[in-house]
Amino acid sequence: DDAQKQVDDLSKAQDLSANTTDPGTTLTDNMGHVVSDDQNSLRAGERGPTLMEDFLFREKITHFDHERIPERVVHARGAGAHGYFQLDKSLEKYTHAKVLTEVGVKTPVFARFSTVAGSRGSADTARDVRGFAVKMYTKEGNWDIVGNNIPVFFIQDAIKFPDLIHSVKPEPHNEIPQAASAHDTFYDFIAETPEAMHMLMWIHSDRAIPRAYNMMEGFGVHTFRLVNAQGKAHLVKFHWKPVLGVKSLVWDEAQKIAGKDADFHRRSMWETIDQGGTLEWDFGVQVFTEEEAMKWDFDVLDATKIVPEDLVPVQRVGKMVLDRNVDNFFAETEQVAFMTQNVVPGIDFTNDPLLQGRNFSYLDTQLSRLGSPNWQELPINRPIIRVSNNQRDGHMRHTINKGRVAYFPNQMAANKPAQAGAAGFVTYPDKVEGTKLRVRAESFSDHYGQARLFWNSMSPVEKEHIAKSLRFELSKCETRDVRVRMLGHLAKINEVLAAQVAKGLGEKLPSTSDAKPGGQQDSASETALLAAAI
Ligand code: HEM
Repeated sequence: DDAQKQVDDLSKAQDLSANTTDPGTTLTDNMGHVVSDDQNSLRAGERGPTLMEDFLFREKITHFDHERIPERVVHARGAGAHGYFQLDKSLEKYTHAKVLTEVGVKTPVFARFSTVAGSRGSADTARDVRGFAVKMYTKEGNWDIVGNNIPVFFIQDAIKFPDLIHSVKPEPHNEIPQAASAHDTFYDFIAETPEAMHMLMWIHSDRAIPRAYNMMEGFGVHTFRLVNAQGKAHLVKFHWKPVLGVKSLVWDEAQKIAGKDADFHRRSMWETIDQGGTLEWDFGVQVFTEEEAMKWDFDVLDATKIVPEDLVPVQRVGKMVLDRNVDNFFAETEQVAFMTQNVVPGIDFTNDPLLQGRNFSYLDTQLSRLGSPNWQELPINRPIIRVSNNQRDGHMRHTINKGRVAYFPNQMAANKPAQAGAAGFVTYPDKVEGTKLRVRAESFSDHYGQARLFWNSMSPVEKEHIAKSLRFELSKCETRDVRVRMLGHLAKINEVLAAQVAKGLGEKLPSTSDAKPGGQQDSASETALLAAAI
């Protein structure tokens, strides 16, 4: 059927596999010269020196010497798989994007899951956020949802991203610690960044040690915009809900597995698919209007906030199925380049300052990671529709553009790609006006309310895990001042939590005189717990 053909065409388009695996081929060098002996270099006499003339040796070694590219500056450790997205319920009331209106059509996808802080060789089960990046090769161009398995983020403004990442990465003087957030610099930064408190609760919860990729949720995090055929806009949050449900490891398991099998998550995905199985998620949306959002006591442009599901339920409208492993990790998983700015007509951005900054960063980073403005030509990054424009040349250009004309408008080219007007991507005409300022909106200023909401929604055992995780991680901070400042923030989220962590660290419960901005509801059992913790 058409849907299957689209998926097959994609895999054909991406199949530039070298013929080394075809039966009956002879070894050649990269210029096509048939190789007589690949195991001995050319030398003067049996025991003599190697000759410069040995072009086979030089080509083989030179290529090897240049095999590595920089790992991703974040999310370096990851694994990906192919599959498809299929819509069950049209969202045409909200958007004219074909991928969200054509029920039953299979859109090919490539998804990559990752940790954030560790290097390419670090362990899968570290306590960390998981990247959940999905590239959909739609009929209207690539649409990437570059999300995480946690619905909020540490910071509200992209200008703070380099600081956040520098604080969490190994320290610059000794490159310690690898793949763990448990160190002074991270908590020193977090203690200075109250907006991180909601995310901090998630990161210390069981969500940060998933059992498998297909047992974690995915979130687009930001509020995006959907625009329908009549030009009317709604706001939207994107969700992936694992069909197997959300499941986590416990910390002791996560640590032991990290030692025994650093590939635990990628191996599980690989083996599931290799044995004919699939990984599956429902796709969901929370749709609401700007007018509704203006009534809430948080700002939907603030990526440290969720839209609670009791305010706006998640409607499940489609499914993602991953069913094909990569043929080559480097060519596909390493070279895939996701970008938040890859949206299709009918899907648009909002003014979330974190999203706006990301829309700059992803294209920029590909230029140094993949090394050339032509990275879009890599098979894994190519859209399934024809690319047609006047961009030219550059390092490693593969496309051979024909003809004399490389500009627009013109009357000379025989086949002129035309502008599509309203049939192309038209930015939603959101009204913007204001004074140029470096400020944070007042509506972004509650940093503890949703952190507390999260804590209050946890079961007793989940709360215990959060408290233990904070104790463990903060006990790794060598600087007492960092630990004490962190306890101050915890006290503003919940006294019992702060007391439990303080006890574990051998510190006094910090003063909570100004600690309850939104009003904290301590139940009788919480009061008892508090007494026990102190
Ligand atoms: C990579 C998610 C914030 C810059 C990634 C990846 C994911 C992700 C999933 C890995 C993509 C892959 O698998 O290849 C997020 C989420 C964010 C966030 C959900 C917040 C809501 C930011 C911000 C910036 C940023 C604020 C910069 C201003 C980058 C860069 C990469 C990256 C440079 C490496 C991309 C590459 O080399 O291919 N991010 N990120 N991210 N992110 Fe973010």
